[in-house]
Amino acid sequence: MEDKKLSTESYKGTRDFYPEDLRIQDYMFSRMRRAVERFGYLGYNASMIEETDLFRAKSGEEIVNEQTYSFIDRGGRDVTIRPEMTPTLARMVAKKRKELVFPLRWYSIPNLFRYERPQRGRLREFWQLNVDMFGVDSVSADIEIISVAHAVLAEFGATNDDFVVRINDRRITNFFMYEYLGVDDAKAHTLSKLIDRKEKMPEGEFFLRVQDIVGKDAERCIAFLNTKDITVLPDEFLDYETVQDLKKIIDRLAQAGMTNVVYDPSIMRGLDYYTGVVFEVFDTNDENKRALFGGGRYDDLVGLFGVEKVSGIGFGMGDVPVENFLTTHGLLPDSIPCGVDLALCVFGQEYEHHAQELAQYLRKEGLNVAVDISGRKIVSQIKTADKQGIPYIICIGDDEVQKKEYVLKDLAKHEEVTVTQDMIAQLILSTNKKER
Ligand code: HAM
Repeated sequence: MEDKKLSTESYKGTRDFYPEDLRIQDYMFSRMRRAVERFGYLGYNASMIEETDLFRAKSGEEIVNEQTYSFIDRGGRDVTIRPEMTPTLARMVAKKRKELVFPLRWYSIPNLFRYERPQRGRLREFWQLNVDMFGVDSVSADIEIISVAHAVLAEFGATNDDFVVRINDRRITNFFMYEYLGVDDAKAHTLSKLIDRKEKMPEGEFFLRVQDIVGKDAERCIAFLNTKDITVLPDEFLDYETVQDLKKIIDRLAQAGMTNVVYDPSIMRGLDYYTGVVFEVFDTNDENKRALFGGGRYDDLVGLFGVEKVSGIGFGMGDVPVENFLTTHGLLPDSIPCGVDLALCVFGQEYEHHAQELAQYLRKEGLNVAVDISGRKIVSQIKTADKQGIPYIICIGDDEVQKKEYVLKDLAKHEEVTVTQDMIAQLILSTNKKER
């Protein structure tokens, strides 16, 4: 058999993270963590494999039938690599609900797998910031969760002009379908799935499909779905408590400066478990059309484990669309420190022992130090350190070993100072602090 060359490409729809890529991801995750921890959220995690039944019971049909990586393990169990975190989270909360103290504020940044067609903003493996709160039924929780979503983007320097939060409540959509249009369950189901895909099809096609379902009510239906301001909804809606609540949420967020939260009756969210408020965050720049975040209230998920209900609300935010968003708006820093503080370059093998001792001393002082052991010419060693983004170097040769004095060079600023070993760490650490 002819040998087939192994491909160096990563599996379709996944990414390799070379150090410079990982640095960007680390930067993004640390900003996300900082933003959510400020609101008092605690981190959690779980395995990426679950029994498939968990997702069958909890996620939408689209995810389970078309998008999961599922297989039978060696013990005959039907298992799935998580396509989302919410079912796992609901399972964890249900399991320990007696010991946990509510309200529970938790977050996680898991990697998820969905068998999707890779495209801008969507891959097969991605990371997703999940922020969820359990145990608060009031609009205060809805307001907080949207404020956290807002704060995450603000943490990267985004402003209200850069993105828009589109918000709806599934109960209003149900009221619209059952009370206003008077359709039955089957039609309501088809209509809600169609509304969820509204943005993905031309207006004319959408109209015809709506007409297929609701006949002569199609125009009323489109007029409702195009409403941009909750206060101009038909009279029947305005007395409805949920409409009042949603108005309260939008008003309170606006009062707190979040004026880019708008009512959009066409926001449905594909997942079946949402029961109340639902929202999605979009880039205002057309280059990134897919949602940056999606979330909502799901009051029955924990109860599905056969225990008493605990209400939940939260959102998921993908690293791929967010990185596109940050790049489009120029919000990623030009350079992110590589994590190594100092490179020790050596003039010859005989000085390596001294360099290693100095490195050991400096590591204890809190620096990240790499010793060049390549044996190459000093110029090449310096070039390597510079290319790797290491900010400082010290070259070690005869003079340094004799005098125990070193020339500390700042590669970016082309500045140097002569120092003794006890001054090095303090100098570098204090400059790092100032520049952070
Ligand atoms: P979702 O709408 O399926 O919701 O995903 C939420 C976000 O995850 C999307 O808006 C997008 O940023 C990101 N995302 C989804 N699929 C991909 C993909 N293939 N590649 C890159 N990013 C993607 C959920 O997953 C819910 N479990 C979120 C949630 C948490 N609801 C309540 N708590």
